[in-house]
Amino acid sequence: MDPYIANEDFLIAEAHAKINLHLEVLGIRSDGFHELAMVMQSINLSDQLKMIKSADNKITLKSNNKDISNGEDNLIIKAANLLRNKVGNTQLGVDIELEKNIPIGAGLAGGSTDAAATLVGLNKLWNLNLEIEELENLSKEIGSDIPFCVLGGRQLCFGRGEILERLKFDRFDLGLILVKDPSIQVSTPVAYKKYKEKYGHKYLVDERDFEMKRNIIRSSDWSDQSLLHNRKEIKNDLQKTVRPMSKEVEKSLKILSGLPGSHLVSMSGSGPSCFALFQNFNEANKVLNEHVKEFERAGLSAWACSMMSNGVLLRNEFT
Ligand code: C5P
Repeated sequence: MDPYIANEDFLIAEAHAKINLHLEVLGIRSDGFHELAMVMQSINLSDQLKMIKSADNKITLKSNNKDISNGEDNLIIKAANLLRNKVGNTQLGVDIELEKNIPIGAGLAGGSTDAAATLVGLNKLWNLNLEIEELENLSKEIGSDIPFCVLGGRQLCFGRGEILERLKFDRFDLGLILVKDPSIQVSTPVAYKKYKEKYGHKYLVDERDFEMKRNIIRSSDWSDQSLLHNRKEIKNDLQKTVRPMSKEVEKSLKILSGLPGSHLVSMSGSGPSCFALFQNFNEANKVLNEHVKEFERAGLSAWACSMMSNGVLLRNEFT
């Protein structure tokens, strides 16, 4: 059954944030990007994009967040223009209202998932009938994490992050507590630049070595049970450079590590958001409620989340 349901003129696209269950920098590519080996996981923290078909040929964006540009530099507008150019119909128009709930500059792919939701949503609203693979392929032109955010769930991500290999699990029961200091953001390019300065001399250079690393990731067990019981840590290479630069990340990791029942603790993406894994959502939620004061005192926003087996979801008033 088509999971994407819309009436003719209106729909809501739900865009989910992601965390990294693994982030390994393998080397540098000829295009200047880093060669990565990652495991990404969608979570139930989401932005909502209300999309209304418009009769004129304009693409407009409004949002509830003053810190976000509504112009051509926003990934939502970039994604809408990209899709319109791809199908060669510049008459298509849409008014988009973004309800931003995912913190920005947090390492949670907030901008990327909005772009993914724009592509999936407009494909339906404008009746373009492009295949999901075509949308994923198109999306990598404007951001490395966007292809993952289209179908989401738990996937292996290689290359710049855009080469996806799906893991065959139907459900993910782990819960997590996610924290972020609202006063700071981390620039992804800066995090990679610092990493290169410090560890560039150790980079792998040979495609055969990259493939060997990918095979290790492929043959690892990424099930909930294995994550909880067979791992000592979550690997995030960028944490090695961001943590010493950011007392907020240091503080977040320290608090999360001290929580009862927290299994693995890590920064997500290029940070500064950090998370701790729990047996399930109820456990994470209980611990969060018991420690609300501690997070408040530390100046951290905190969420209890569950993991999702999907990325973008579409709905409208009638479903
Ligand atoms: O593709 P995206 O817009 O997410 O990348 C943002 C920046 O992060 C890039 O311009 C680059 O500096 C850095 N990056 C990288 N290697 C990657 C992904 C991102 O160096 N694989």
